[in-house]
Amino acid sequence: MNDRNVLEVIKSKANNLSPRLGIILGSGLGSFIEEIDDKVVYPFAELPGFPITSVEGHTSNLILGQINGVEIAVLQGRVHYYEDANIDAMKIPLETLKSLGCSTIILTNSAGSLKSNAKPGEVVLLTDHINYMGISPLFKETGNDRFVNMVDAYDPSLRDAFSKLAKKKNILLHEGVYFWFCGPNFETPAEIRGAKILGGDVVGMSTVPEVILARYLGLKVVALSVITNMASGMDNQPLSHERTIENAKKGMLDLKKLLVNFLELLSTN
Ligand code: HPA
Repeated sequence: MNDRNVLEVIKSKANNLSPRLGIILGSGLGSFIEEIDDKVVYPFAELPGFPITSVEGHTSNLILGQINGVEIAVLQGRVHYYEDANIDAMKIPLETLKSLGCSTIILTNSAGSLKSNAKPGEVVLLTDHINYMGISPLFKETGNDRFVNMVDAYDPSLRDAFSKLAKKKNILLHEGVYFWFCGPNFETPAEIRGAKILGGDVVGMSTVPEVILARYLGLKVVALSVITNMASGMDNQPLSHERTIENAKKGMLDLKKLLVNFLELLSTN
């Protein structure tokens, strides 16, 4: 990896930070950064090898800082496969989080719901995914490490910690399987009916390549979807990116509570 330069740039502004947890913020979920203390902000454009996103709702920054005394590295903005069909666009950002010291990654995203009981504004803890696109960010890798085991890719003990936390704090937290369509167009109602039959619970355009990359790098993964809409054909509301962003902001309330409380838990462990 060409991370020497990246690390030099990062260390030149914040030499003494050693985050153990990385967080990736999904569409419309960037306001989480208000919770971070002692922020050091690096626009992706300053970081060699980092991709630049073209999606509204994603400001691209790496932010180092702390919450409840736990040092974290946050990617405010991710790049999606649909932007320039680069399946490993998030490889250097994830490698950088690992090089900085992160051993766990929390992925967040906005998603459509396939379950009538999981409504816009509510949060789903991902238990697994279906890579319907059939492509992998590990295509160009060589060696045996590329044959990554995807059983328990969504770390069972971290999932358990989030479930217990949600119960304790009285936050509604669904569980479900993420179904990846690459976008950028929303799905057809027929595709959604198919995704349901195949076992999907939420549908989205991100996260799967990052989970595969993170597992390849040996990082523990936990992932949370904020439901921004019922999936295509499930209600009469038209789908749009504007609606995704607006509902993501509403769902951010519970997501923020979960993340901040999780960090509080880590600070005492
Ligand atoms: N489909 C795909 N991606 C999404 C959706 C959806 O319905 N909502 C938010 N991201």
